Amino acid sequence: MQSVLDYLKGNQKRFVDELCEYVRFPSVSAQPAHAKDLRNCAEWLVRHCQQIGLEARLCPTRGNPVVLANTRRGKASGRRHFLVYGHYDVQPPEPLELWKTPPFEPTRRGGSLFGRGASDNKGQNLAHLKAVEAYLKTGTELPCDLTFVLEGEEEVGSVSLADFLREHRARLRCDAVVISDTGIPARNLPALTYALRGIAALEIIVHGPSRDLHSGIFGGSVDNPAMALSRLLAGVRDDAGRIVIPGFYDDVAPLTSFERKQMARIPFEAGKYRKFLGVPKLFGERGYTPNEQRTARPTFEINGLTSGYQGEGSKTIVPAWASAKITIRLVPHQSPARVTRAVRAFLKRHCPPTVRLEIRGGHGAEAYMVSPRSANAQAALRALRAAFQCEPVLLREGGSIPIVNQFKKILGADTLLLGLALPDDNAHSPNEKFDLELFAKGQRLGAMLWPELARG
Ligand code: BES
Ligand code: ZN
Repeated sequence: MQSVLDYLKGNQKRFVDELCEYVRFPSVSAQPAHAKDLRNCAEWLVRHCQQIGLEARLCPTRGNPVVLANTRRGKASGRRHFLVYGHYDVQPPEPLELWKTPPFEPTRRGGSLFGRGASDNKGQNLAHLKAVEAYLKTGTELPCDLTFVLEGEEEVGSVSLADFLREHRARLRCDAVVISDTGIPARNLPALTYALRGIAALEIIVHGPSRDLHSGIFGGSVDNPAMALSRLLAGVRDDAGRIVIPGFYDDVAPLTSFERKQMARIPFEAGKYRKFLGVPKLFGERGYTPNEQRTARPTFEINGLTSGYQGEGSKTIVPAWASAKITIRLVPHQSPARVTRAVRAFLKRHCPPTVRLEIRGGHGAEAYMVSPRSANAQAALRALRAAFQCEPVLLREGGSIPIVNQFKKILGADTLLLGLALPDDNAHSPNEKFDLELFAKGQRLGAMLWPELARG
């Protein structure tokens, strides 16, 4: 193990250069114009995996390709087999004018690397690849077999990956999945995340007149779709932060007192948090702490709201339509389909007859929850302790990784979520960055994990 750790230490500069190469691909899965960039990024990954000594290939799917890479299977039968999952696609970088340096020109500032995808998720999955490289290049035997599954559609709901898992079920059969695509509360607080929220996406379009109209000539005699949509959406939530859609909370698993106690132990200062987020006052469902609200309670969020004239200056029109991109975060026991049905019914019931309502369904995924007490979880906690030299915490997190439930359903495997992102990494925001100390710690974690997990 010492030679593995020495190798990691001695190669940090090159590893950061390689992370820069990786981040330079504008692999934005939400925007069809970037399909080629996603492919180029996947091809770069295949070559990279091959250079570090893995067997790797590009697997086409209906969407963006999956990169599959594995250690040469050891002859000793009965060795344990683990998957390492990550994603090479990234969120759109807009609004571009808010970036201090361009999103796809990775730049080192302070102890961080800035660039879209640096933290979510390229830096985190590259850390695992570097750990394995250290084994392979120092001739240190890995105590288990490993397969990397790196996909290009996580940020748009992992729509092609479930079919891919079914198709390759036999060779992907494994003892557990390891993912570093979540966060930790602070540099000295490593974490094992045991729950994620699920998600249901939809787009609501309110259609009004057949074209934009002069608001002076016609305004007042027809409904305004932007106004109608605003009212409709405003009616979804009450002043106490509760969603009023009938049935919305039907299946929600309540927080246990044990969990609430656990959560209260994570350092939190409301004033600091408020300032960090730049809001005049915090807001959330009454009766829950901010940490509970953002990780263990369902929400209804407008992600994008569009209508009418968005250019410079003014334009006096009644817009022809208004639209909203919505995601609903789900907690254990809620079904994306059932919640979506309740939301559709509510919107239909409350939409005025003066406009036409269109609802387009999107991707969906259930929440994830796994026991932090399993033997694998204990092994992961030992590795976290050794790599960070700190006592790890157990977390529930509010984000979603849609494929984790499919790993369970299709492969029967639990997932160990071992994140490396900091709360101020600006994931999905302008000026995303990855802490380079955590990049190095992540590699150490990657190295120390396999002997612990291999023991079973
Ligand atoms: N890395 C995140 C998920 C995450 C972040 C989990 C922080 C827990 C803590 C992932 O890349 C992500 O953003 N997923 C999307 C999935 C969605 C588009 C289906 C999300 O949560 O919005
Ligand atoms: Zn993300």
